Amino acid sequence: MRPYHKYSKVYDLLLKGERNYDADCDFIESDLTRFLRSDLKPLRILDIGCGTGEHAIMLSRRGYQVTGIDVSKEMIEQAVQKAKVARVRAEFFVQDMRRLKLNQVFDCALSIFGSFTRLMDEGDYKRFYEGLHHHLRSRGLFIFDFINTDGVIPNYRDWKFKKKGNLTVIRLDSSDFQRQENLLNERHECFIIKNGKIEDHFIEIHKLKTHRMREIKGILEAYGFNLVKTVSEVVGYSKPKESFAIRVVARKRD
Ligand SMILES: C[S@@+](CC[C@H](N)C(=O)[O-])C[C@H]1O[C@@H](n2cnc3c(N)ncnc32)[C@H](O)[C@@H]1O
Repeated sequence: MRPYHKYSKVYDLLLKGERNYDADCDFIESDLTRFLRSDLKPLRILDIGCGTGEHAIMLSRRGYQVTGIDVSKEMIEQAVQKAKVARVRAEFFVQDMRRLKLNQVFDCALSIFGSFTRLMDEGDYKRFYEGLHHHLRSRGLFIFDFINTDGVIPNYRDWKFKKKGNLTVIRLDSSDFQRQENLLNERHECFIIKNGKIEDHFIEIHKLKTHRMREIKGILEAYGFNLVKTVSEVVGYSKPKESFAIRVVARKRD
């Protein structure tokens, strides 16, 4: 089964209380103010790998003009539905980040909470960064996070239990880390329980590429970006001794 297929229906519930999207949007907004020094709201934001649209919807509420893309049709369906309920104007499209095609230029692009880690090799970087370059205005910002190779806990095990009304979701997590390839394989086994009965059971496998800061710097430089800022305590990620996730603010060169 494709990742985020059935998972899309329980994604928000599983992350409830685990991630603080509001605080994350504060963080993004402070960088927009600081580095774009612009009071020309609405700034145009592209949210790459937007998932169920939490950042996109919150940023739209704050007055930004937001477009979200995601490769998962099911995640985009959730985002569209939520935007309708929230009565915001954010637009959403099913699109692969390695083949960006929007008839717009943006002031800022985001790739938050793991979307960037789905790029696996040089070919992926090339396709992604060429598209990004094309869709960002000169000196536009790219804000993203990556998984830090030195912060990965090998053979991680955990579980989550979330409840809402008559719905319960249990997720059993395990991962293995192929250090040679910098490849983190995450396995999430999900049980959906309704009115006390198991209604569904499925397994999500996510393959995530990890990096070190110097590799990220090299990739950014190669594709026409300058590193502006890094933050090693990203809101909403667990924080082992070395930061697991690192947030980067980069700027497209003139
Ligand atoms: C962990 S979710 C993060 C979603 C959202 N940014 C958030 O913070 O909640 C990662 C998202 O990246 C998307 N994704 C993975 N590969 C992608 C690709 N090649 N192009 C676009 N989106 C992708 C997935 O479908 C998923 O919705």
